[in-house]
Amino acid sequence: MRKMVEEIVERLVLAQEARREELLLLLGDLSPEEAEHLRVAADRVRKSCVGDKVYLRGLIEFSNICVQDCLYCGIRRSNQEADRYRLDLEDILSCVDEGKRLGYRTYVLQGGEDPYYTDERIVEMVRAIKERDPECAVTLSVGEKERESYERYYQAGADRYLLRHETHSRELYEQLHPGMSYENRLRCLQDLKEIGFQVGAGFMVGLPGQTVADHVEDLLFLKELQPHMVGIGPFMPQQDTPLKDAPAGTAEMTCRLLSILRLLLPKVLLPATTALGSIDPKGREQGLQAGANVVMPNLSPTRVRDKYLLYDGKICTGDEAAHCRACIERRINSAGYVVDMGRGDGDIL
Ligand code: SAM
Ligand code: FES
Repeated sequence: MRKMVEEIVERLVLAQEARREELLLLLGDLSPEEAEHLRVAADRVRKSCVGDKVYLRGLIEFSNICVQDCLYCGIRRSNQEADRYRLDLEDILSCVDEGKRLGYRTYVLQGGEDPYYTDERIVEMVRAIKERDPECAVTLSVGEKERESYERYYQAGADRYLLRHETHSRELYEQLHPGMSYENRLRCLQDLKEIGFQVGAGFMVGLPGQTVADHVEDLLFLKELQPHMVGIGPFMPQQDTPLKDAPAGTAEMTCRLLSILRLLLPKVLLPATTALGSIDPKGREQGLQAGANVVMPNLSPTRVRDKYLLYDGKICTGDEAAHCRACIERRINSAGYVVDMGRGDGDIL
C-alpha cells in the first residue's frame, strides 16, 4: 500500500479533513488493498461515532407526477410512457398505519413536483400524519419550493427535508435540468437549514459527463454544508429518457464515496440507497459495510410500486411492505449490523 494513501486516510480519521488533490487520489486508481484500507477506516469510524445501528425509514412514494424535466429521471414531465398516479390522503394514511404496525418511527414522503400537492395539501398531510402518530418523524422530499412554503411545512410539524443537490458542477447541473438553476437548488438547501429542518442533501454517482473531479467538489461542498443526512446512489438509465443509452454509475465508486463521506462527516446519516441495491444485488450490504447507517424500505401500496420508476431495474417493485421490512432486517444482520427502529434524529454536526 502506498504511504500517501495511508497518510490521507489517517488525516481523514483524525481531523475529518482532506485537500482537493488528496480526495482526487482516493477516488482514482486504488489497489484492492488500498480500497479495503479506506473502507475499514470508515467502518471503524462509523462504529465509534454512530455504533452498529442501522435506522429504518419508511418510504412513501405518493406521486409520480412532475412538472420538471430532469434528463435522467423516469418520471420527468416529457415521459409519455410513464403511468401516472397520485395517492390521496387516505391512501397515505393507510401506508402510515401499515408502517406503524411494522414498527417504523419515520416516514419519508417523496414525490415529483406535482402541482396537485399545493402547500395547503402538504400541510394537511403532515398534520394528519402527526395526529395519527404524534411521536413519529415526518420527512418531506418534494423538490424546490419558496422559503415561505418550507416555513409552512415546518410549522405544520415536518421535521426533515431531503433535497439532493444532484451534482455540484453548475454546468452539468444545468445541462441535466432544463429550466432549473443551481443557484435556486442551493437557495432551497440554505433556506431549509435556516428554518430548522434536519436537511438531507446528496448526489448521483456516474452521471454522463460527470468526472471524478466533480465528485471531489460534491464532497467539499457537503463538508461545508454539514447536512444531517447525505443520500447518494449510482445514476441508472431509464429506457424512456434521453439518457437511456448512457452507462450506469457503479456500486464500487458509490461505496468509495460513502466511505469518504463517513470520514469527512463522522456522525452523518448515510443511507444505503435503493439505487445501490438495484445496481448490485448486494449493493446495500456493501454500502453498510462502507459506512452507511440508514435504509429506507418501501411502504408504498403495491399497486403503485411499479409506477415510481426513476430508473430501470429498480428493486422491490412487487413486494409488500412487510416483506421489505423483513428482507431488510435480514440483509442488515447479514452485513454485521443491527436494526434500530428509533427515530434516529441526526446530530447537529
Ligand atoms: N422531486 C423531488 C426532488 O427533486 O428532490 C424528489 C423526487 S426525485 C425523483 C428523487 C431522487 O431520485 C432525485 O434526487 C435523484 O437523485 C434520484 N433519481 C432520479 N432519477 C434517477 C436515475 N435515473 N438514477 C438514479 N437516481 C435517480
Ligand atoms: Fe424490498 Fe428486499 S427490501 S424485498
